[in-house]
Amino acid sequence: MKPERSSSPFSMERALEEALARFRPLLSAEEWQALLEELKRPLAPALRLNPLKVNPAEVHMWAEWYGWRLQPVPFCPTGWQVVESAYPVSQTIEHRLGYYYIQDAASMLPVELFDFPPDARPLILDMAASPGGKTTHLVARTNDRGLVIANDSSHERLTALRLVLQTWGGINLAITGFPGERWGGWYPETFDAVLLDAPCSMQSLRPLESHPMRPISQGEQRRLAQRQVALLLSGLRALRVGGQMVYATCTLAPEEDEAVLEAALQRHPGTFEIESVDDRLPAPAPALEATPEHRFPPQVRRAVRLWPHRFHTAGFFAARLRKVAPVPSESGMTSPPQTRTRLTWLRPSEMREVLEALKRDYGLDMQPLFEVQVAGLVRREDYLYAAPRAFEAYFGALPVVSLGLPLLEATPEGWVLTHEGVARFGRQCQHGRVILPAEMVTPWLRGEDVPLVIRPPWPKTRVVIVTDVHGRVLGRGRVQRTQLKNLLPRRVVLQQPPSVP
Ligand SMILES: C[S@@+](CC[C@H](N)C(=O)[O-])C[C@H]1O[C@@H](n2cnc3c(N)ncnc32)[C@H](O)[C@@H]1O
Repeated sequence: MKPERSSSPFSMERALEEALARFRPLLSAEEWQALLEELKRPLAPALRLNPLKVNPAEVHMWAEWYGWRLQPVPFCPTGWQVVESAYPVSQTIEHRLGYYYIQDAASMLPVELFDFPPDARPLILDMAASPGGKTTHLVARTNDRGLVIANDSSHERLTALRLVLQTWGGINLAITGFPGERWGGWYPETFDAVLLDAPCSMQSLRPLESHPMRPISQGEQRRLAQRQVALLLSGLRALRVGGQMVYATCTLAPEEDEAVLEAALQRHPGTFEIESVDDRLPAPAPALEATPEHRFPPQVRRAVRLWPHRFHTAGFFAARLRKVAPVPSESGMTSPPQTRTRLTWLRPSEMREVLEALKRDYGLDMQPLFEVQVAGLVRREDYLYAAPRAFEAYFGALPVVSLGLPLLEATPEGWVLTHEGVARFGRQCQHGRVILPAEMVTPWLRGEDVPLVIRPPWPKTRVVIVTDVHGRVLGRGRVQRTQLKNLLPRRVVLQQPPSVP
């Protein structure tokens, strides 16, 4: 959650001191020393690979190119901490094209707690999703099958969410902008999995730019806790019996962690269990049994409390709940809003025509993928979105901010792959590519047009996939008479691209 007040370095320091004083009684003397030692060390940035776009071994090639020393994140097979780096992880074309997401290692825990059988197509609700880090992880863990609804009530934060998810390249995604509290009443007993990465006070003890620390009053903490309980109960109600819900915060304040779980257990006893997740961690990281003032119910201890010194991360809290009985309705079922403008899906014959054009122009056969993903093509203005069929089946005409991935764009010459389409599928295209000579790669990544050098066969489309000699996809270009026009979006362009051997 965005801080309501600005966090000056002074207030950040004060917040850390206050938090440390509060947390002192919660740790043994030995652990307290370990925590203080840990806080003296800088926090290593971390990245999580995008299995929709890259082969996991590629991370070692990037490490060589960019001078990174990597350490695996112990609870996330696709996560790496970058403990030394000659070149920042945020300044590479691989990052800008969504080959990896930069995320603190602790934030990789909650999605790893879910059990997703290999070929499952789960229906997932991410209740508080922006800017989308954990949604990208959900899409990766489910191999972009099923449907993930990325919801956030903050309208200012929906643009960031859309950009992050489009960069990641998932198809089976919908973005909605409702208060999370509504979902339980609108869609009870519906989802196979629910993630609540709750808005919180961010007392993580390791302030990050994205998670600054600031002093927090008791009143504010109480209000946050009330909202967390309401969101948790809504999520539980939206979950089907047998489904899993993960509750997570980036704060170590017990009022927003163990106490929220306790409040939910008291409100709806016997409807869910907190499951042990010890098998997901290299060493136990149990939640608190008690604070000096209060003892929690024993099953709350099965949650995970990531003190920073446990695995060299920021502070974090997560619990996996299993629903075992329906949650009784408190305010009754309410009807979700419905929009009058329905989605315009392409008819099977229109879709066949578009997919044939993709095969002809780019040598890309998307038919099998569309069958596996159970996706179709939706037209919105000049774009065709590859979008999940499941959305309408479950949610009818519920208003969405966006659905699926913009795959094709209308041009005077016909449909061409979008930037997002090339970033996700460019490597699978058999033709329609132009390989840049090594000396042109740096100017290209800076966003410049370059002289046209094409070896036969001549591409069948003017909008081509640009690669380097390593086969790295470097976005799209438009073939003009003597030059290749650079179609990299501004947000992807690098000021000082590193040179790769
Ligand atoms: C901790 S952040 C989520 C971070 C995100 N899951 C990620 O991994 O990138 C919490 C989010 O909750 C949203 N939020 C706050 N109150 C909400 C509510 N009542 N319903 C839904 N979202 C809410 C905030 O706008 C914020 O984006």
